[in-house]
Amino acid sequence: MTQNSEIHPALAPGTVQNLDLPNRYVLAPMSRASATEGGVPTEDMAKYYARFAQGGFGLLIAEGAYPDTTIAQAYANQPGLCTDAQQAGWKQVVDAVHAHGSKIILQLIHAGAVSQVVDAPHGPSPVRPDGHMLQMYGTKQGPYETPVELSEGDITEIKAGFVQAARRAEEAGFDGVEIHCANGYLLDQFLTPETNLRAAPYGGSVENRIRLTCEIISEVRAVCSKDFLTGVRLSQAKATQPDYFWAGGLDDAAIIFSAVAEAGASFIHLASERGGYAYHSSTKDGARLTKFARETTGLPVIANGGLEDCDLALEVLSNGEADFLAIGKSAMMNPDLPNRIANRQAPKEFTFELFSYGVSVSSQMKWEAEQSA
Ligand SMILES: Cc1cc2nc3c(=O)[nH]c(=O)nc-3n(C[C@H](O)[C@H](O)[C@H](O)COP(=O)(O)O)c2cc1C
Repeated sequence: MTQNSEIHPALAPGTVQNLDLPNRYVLAPMSRASATEGGVPTEDMAKYYARFAQGGFGLLIAEGAYPDTTIAQAYANQPGLCTDAQQAGWKQVVDAVHAHGSKIILQLIHAGAVSQVVDAPHGPSPVRPDGHMLQMYGTKQGPYETPVELSEGDITEIKAGFVQAARRAEEAGFDGVEIHCANGYLLDQFLTPETNLRAAPYGGSVENRIRLTCEIISEVRAVCSKDFLTGVRLSQAKATQPDYFWAGGLDDAAIIFSAVAEAGASFIHLASERGGYAYHSSTKDGARLTKFARETTGLPVIANGGLEDCDLALEVLSNGEADFLAIGKSAMMNPDLPNRIANRQAPKEFTFELFSYGVSVSSQMKWEAEQSA
């Protein structure tokens, strides 16, 4: 923690593109599998997201929503943004957050080969992803299946889905979207040489493997208004491979970061898995990727991974490694984390007991009610 008389740098205002934010705390996207069966966000979700706005988060990144009705969905009860009903459901979430003065962007995610609901998951190449389906998200279980190889026509449709979902996000009032190219989902499957055995234009070199993400970013920028944020989330690790690193280290990173910047990304967000910020935001040789992204692109960078720790947050911000801090599990436990830090009140430590009744918002509310009884 800083000296008593000093203000923690995480509480200083910041800017992403033309969006002024009151502090550096961002809610990390977290899937809560709480939408209706048809992927429509509910009133409970609106209340859930409003809690973070009330608690001082200046920017919220809402959980990954699927951008088309065919092969994009990852989990049961995941929200989507490809029907009028889903758009109306999200509008109530956006309005509830804006009513408390915070900004909200939506993460758009395509599951590709790791879908736990689609009958025949599709991916860049017919290579079975390592690991097992995530138990917390119900539906199908066991090892992942070998995906059907996407045709060029399928890829065109996937792009169109992202672009149409981004349009809908702007119509619903969101302040932007985050394109998910992380954690082993479809766009990361393209970026990863082990799951992408294709030839050009979308396989082979790093430039080719990041191409689909870049095309989506630039097409979204072209159809949405200038001030609408179009960020990108990247990671080395996958949900089921926490020790995965980009083989080319900083050489790969230089190509990836400059490609997404040239495509028009508003920010770069580096996701962390179980190992925490320092481990996942560094190459295998220990070079800090967040700082490298910031220096090579000049874009705002969002860091992630255990950054509720005030000492670590201070280090990251004062070393110029990142501009913003995305908080995941600790925010779930402390929706008022920024206000707590401002009031010098220690955050409650996250416990997996929060998921005692499941991962959904209603399960958390049940658990919270039990705790306060
Ligand atoms: C329940 C849960 C759901 C998550 N869902 C998503 C998601 O939809 N999209 C995503 O990019 N990351 C997702 N994540 C990863 C978080 O955004 C974050 O990267 C991770 O929790 C590490 O940050 P933390 O140390 O602050 O918790 C999820 C994490 C959890 C715990």
